[in-house]
Amino acid sequence: MGKDVIVACDFAGKKEVFDFLDKFTDVKPFVKIGMELFYAEGPEIVREIKARGHKIFLDLKLHDIPNTVKKAMSVLSRLDVDMTNLHASGTVAMMEAAIEGLTREDGTRPILIAVTQLTSTSQERMEADLLIEKPLDEVVMHYASNAKVAGLDGVVCSPLEAGKVHEKCGADFVTVTPGVRFADGDIGDQVRVTTPAKAKEIGSDYIVVGRPITAAADPVAAYKRCVAEFCD
Ligand code: C5P
Repeated sequence: MGKDVIVACDFAGKKEVFDFLDKFTDVKPFVKIGMELFYAEGPEIVREIKARGHKIFLDLKLHDIPNTVKKAMSVLSRLDVDMTNLHASGTVAMMEAAIEGLTREDGTRPILIAVTQLTSTSQERMEADLLIEKPLDEVVMHYASNAKVAGLDGVVCSPLEAGKVHEKCGADFVTVTPGVRFADGDIGDQVRVTTPAKAKEIGSDYIVVGRPITAAADPVAAYKRCVAEFCD
């Protein structure tokens, strides 16, 4: 899998996302479409962005009974997205069903990655609310292993965990990592951040970058800076 920068298009609607994408003329970044934009605009927004030549990571984090996830994944596969995801906590059976649903008749399918524990879940909340009493990093690695066993391609994780995930699940198990900031940029609400260059050094396969690009005075220059630091 090649290294790439994925731009998190966390916009409220079609106008905002196209105003942003219109700035890119000579390059077509890989974009992430999340729940907000997808639920606001529907599947047509995916088709339109795809038709403009962008690769798409559809970040909908599916979690339901295996049969429902299988059928939903089959619909997403027909939308021709390049990457999508689900919650590893849905069990190995759910992840296997997802792969079945995603796989097209010709055997191809989008890259499928798993969310392990959300970064918003603390050790304390995991123990009190979910009754999971193991250390959080052990839970994350266990879920990553389950994703590997189910045949998924990788996980979303912190760039700081990418090395450990590769050690446990193999060099070709994909790590998709948000929490990236330029050395001279604002951290915002992210807590544990790394630069694109550091993420490359640790071994991330894809970095997901939102505001350092979307809120930059010159988004195209910021995107190209990320690519230069991470991919070149
Ligand atoms: O603007 P920023 O670079 O912080 O955007 C990061 C993107 O990655 C957002 O779409 C955010 O929801 C997503 N994300 C994250 N941390 C996670 C999982 C996803 O920041 N643990």
